[in-house]
Amino acid sequence: MVERYVMSIDQGTTSTRCILFDHRGRLVSVAQREHQQYFPRPGWVEHDAMEIWHNLQRIVPEALSNADIDAGQIAAIGIANQRETTVLWDRRTGVPLGRAIVWQDVRTAGLVDGLRDRPGDEFFVERCCLQPSTYFSAPRIRWLFDHVDGLERRVQDGDVLFGTMETWLIWNLTGGADGGLHITDATNASRTMLINIRTLTWDRELMDFFGVPRVMLPEIRASAEVYGEAREVLPGVRISAALGDQQAALFGQTCFSPGEAKCTYGTGSFLLMNTGTDVVRSRHGLLTTVAYKIDDQPAVYALEGPIAVTGSLVQWFRDRLGLINSAPEIETLARTVEDNGGCYIVPAFSGLFAPHWRSDARGVVVGLTSYITKGHLARAVLEATGWQTREVVDAMNADSSLALRQLKVDGGMTANNLLMQFLADVLDVPVVRPMVAETVSLGAAYAAGLAATYWPDLEVLRSNWHTAAKWVPDMDPGRREEEYEYWQRAVERSLGWVR
Ligand code: G3P
Repeated sequence: MVERYVMSIDQGTTSTRCILFDHRGRLVSVAQREHQQYFPRPGWVEHDAMEIWHNLQRIVPEALSNADIDAGQIAAIGIANQRETTVLWDRRTGVPLGRAIVWQDVRTAGLVDGLRDRPGDEFFVERCCLQPSTYFSAPRIRWLFDHVDGLERRVQDGDVLFGTMETWLIWNLTGGADGGLHITDATNASRTMLINIRTLTWDRELMDFFGVPRVMLPEIRASAEVYGEAREVLPGVRISAALGDQQAALFGQTCFSPGEAKCTYGTGSFLLMNTGTDVVRSRHGLLTTVAYKIDDQPAVYALEGPIAVTGSLVQWFRDRLGLINSAPEIETLARTVEDNGGCYIVPAFSGLFAPHWRSDARGVVVGLTSYITKGHLARAVLEATGWQTREVVDAMNADSSLALRQLKVDGGMTANNLLMQFLADVLDVPVVRPMVAETVSLGAAYAAGLAATYWPDLEVLRSNWHTAAKWVPDMDPGRREEEYEYWQRAVERSLGWVR
């Protein structure tokens, strides 16, 4: 019998990847292409949505031919995507109206600060369970209305569509201007600030609040359901999943039970804990988000702590300070010293995300003395990721009745053993990494494969998860808490730097 595979497309912040998985969840083929990052002004970050679509058209056949697999062997396609990044395009021509505004872009800071200061508008936090932040999509749509001549009228006329990357790609894959599906999934919709997180529908008051009309918004669907067949790139193959990439990683890590959590360590880091079918409203600076929704089953929710700068601090250490030549060298350099020498780095390069949500914070290095070497700085860089995770975990434990018992990790930084041990030490729980490190892609494949009955149920997926590495806590509790206090004092110093 001819072997069949599930195709996963991970449209991320820096690249787009196409990966094929087999029945046992093993990676069979990969093709990847980076896209250009545009920084037209300080704090602005943009992508060319058309370039991303063209990249997808190229990597899909590459992934097939790398493993000598025929299009007819693909059982289903699942998509995971960078979240919140906002694309508007012309429904008739399929041409984007300018570049996509990326989730890291802070051009809406003024607008968002205005939101925070408006008394009596707390309803919107209650409704969407997100903190007012430049991070989400709705303020970006508002910003475009305020800055692009004639846009509002074109939108009212029904000529313009909004989407995040999964919406843009599915629309193009299913025919584009010639009848393409204009859909999103519940996980991505939950990052817009425009839905009621409980009913999972576009919320009239939130739409009015931001001045976003329904006519431009996609239909909200489950994360795992057969949406339709592709007409482009892989004609006839079913598209049966879409999830925000961090939710996909949660799914790929098989965190299907309440209390199970994962953190993905990339340029930023994202810790999500499954809270079951309950909406747990955070009181400690976390976001409530949809974890996944399978067909017509009730949605599963998560608490999320996004951390803006982790791996990108290592990049800064390498590219801007030139203290190492490659990212892995940071571990070697950090091991030249016993500890941080009293030095702490808070990488609030463009404010702090969870649990602080302070756009007025900027980075600080504290505790400098003439004793400090580049080895100590390397330690402080790595420890910043550990402490930022600890802050999120503390908030999660305070918000939920489910205390974290272990943390599943993935992403590039998990190759750093010193950091992973430090993480187990400061969290005081075991940290585990799975055999298949490509959890974002795997999660999208799992969701697509479930919907297309390639895999029968969640238990089968669970049985595919195998431990590759485990780190257990090994730090004196007194020292841990003393160090944490120093870190918190350093954070205090970063707050309010920009007014
Ligand atoms: O919320 C932003 C997140 O989805 C970005 O993830 O991995 O594409 O940087 P990544």
